Amino acid sequence: MYILIKDLAQHVGEEVTIKGWLYNKRSSGPISFLELRDGFGFVQGVAVQKGLSAEVWQACEEVTQESSIEVTGEVTKHPKKENVFELQIKDFKILQKAIDYPIAHKEHGPDFLMDNRHLWLRSKRQWAIMRVRDAIIMAINEYLHQQNFIKTDSPVFTPNACEGTTTLFAVPYFDLGEAFLSQSGQLYIEAAIASVGRCYDFGPVFRAEKSKTKRHLTEFWMMDAEAAFVEHEENLKIQEGLVRHIVRYCLEHCKEELTILERNMENLKKADAPFTRYTYDQAIVKLNEMGSDIKYGEDLGNDDEGLLTKDSEVPVFIEKWPKSIKPFYMKRSVENPDLVYNDDLIATEGGGELIGGSQREDDIELLNVRIKAEGLNEADYAWYSDLRKYGSVPHSGFGIGLERAVRWITGVEHIRECILFPRTISRLKP
Ligand code: 4AD
Ligand code: MG
Repeated sequence: MYILIKDLAQHVGEEVTIKGWLYNKRSSGPISFLELRDGFGFVQGVAVQKGLSAEVWQACEEVTQESSIEVTGEVTKHPKKENVFELQIKDFKILQKAIDYPIAHKEHGPDFLMDNRHLWLRSKRQWAIMRVRDAIIMAINEYLHQQNFIKTDSPVFTPNACEGTTTLFAVPYFDLGEAFLSQSGQLYIEAAIASVGRCYDFGPVFRAEKSKTKRHLTEFWMMDAEAAFVEHEENLKIQEGLVRHIVRYCLEHCKEELTILERNMENLKKADAPFTRYTYDQAIVKLNEMGSDIKYGEDLGNDDEGLLTKDSEVPVFIEKWPKSIKPFYMKRSVENPDLVYNDDLIATEGGGELIGGSQREDDIELLNVRIKAEGLNEADYAWYSDLRKYGSVPHSGFGIGLERAVRWITGVEHIRECILFPRTISRLKP
């Protein structure tokens, strides 16, 4: 019977067939240990020369790393390890023999691995990261539906900027001039909430950012959520609920993957507790006390984010920033019109900014003043202003960067491993 490696536990004592690839091989004379993978898991196959036909033993001997294979054998329990199974090989077919697979089970430099990303994806580590990524997507979809959000989606070709004009990718667009690849679908789902109340989009967004850091991609996946009649306080509650749900979901569903990645799961577990909150003002005071030379009115850098969270077991919200360093759409504070009702959520353990969110300006006059002040073309944003003209309501939303979340949950150092084929300022291939 053909089965998946993940289902081995249900077939102890039975003869089964696995289809996949050879991951690794160790031989000691008349015994061969063949590590097999099928996309759903990994299992050690044991081939003993004595019990096999010459032809089958020969196949076990000559099989190479990453050859595609079909293996039949009896499922047994590992003699020492709980919940680990083995396959006592009876038949072994090589479907296609891989010659000179370039990635060996040893250290390779990052450039070599990135050039071979199409093959590197098969490593146990990349397998685990992709599975955690999927779990995070599942967790996000689950939580948002529990909170009555529905998935609408936003266009990728857009006529104007959402997050500032300096990081736009322009593409020629027929007779209409230039289109820009979306930086965030937020403005569009603000329109959709007047129809459906709460919604989100989840797709690729683009930033022509010259940043060469371990957390920046030029193409990444963002989930933007937006909700009518939700103000600043409740916005933060929804964000905290989402992030804690992601943590719980991954701890429940990704134990094997997080173990492969050597992620400290105790630390993750501790992050599922009420988040800390600082206002921007408090954060600047605290940072200066801790030795940072950041000045009031400046954006927080990587080092500042690291300093603020270094002793924290839970993610930290920084709320109510000066409007001068935040986008035009954020709602000005009633107590202090120089501030806006917004937040950045900073992850623990060097995870950096996970979420950017805010209550949106719902007053058409104030919004138009901000659009003008930012030097944006009012005509381009006329449809967006319309939303404040016809039944304006208080509303809020936020965006979470998927690969940032993957990087934090998996604990991997560089964001380039958090997406199948990363696009950065210096990489477009493969
Ligand atoms: O803080 P940002 O720029 O916020 C927005 O775009 C809002 N329109 C979202 C909203 O309110 N709907 O981006 C949101 C998140 C960041 O917190 C970060 O996690 C991620 O997107 N992000 C990046 N991830 C990878 N590479 C980059 N270059 C990123 N820039 C932002
Ligand atoms: Mg941000």
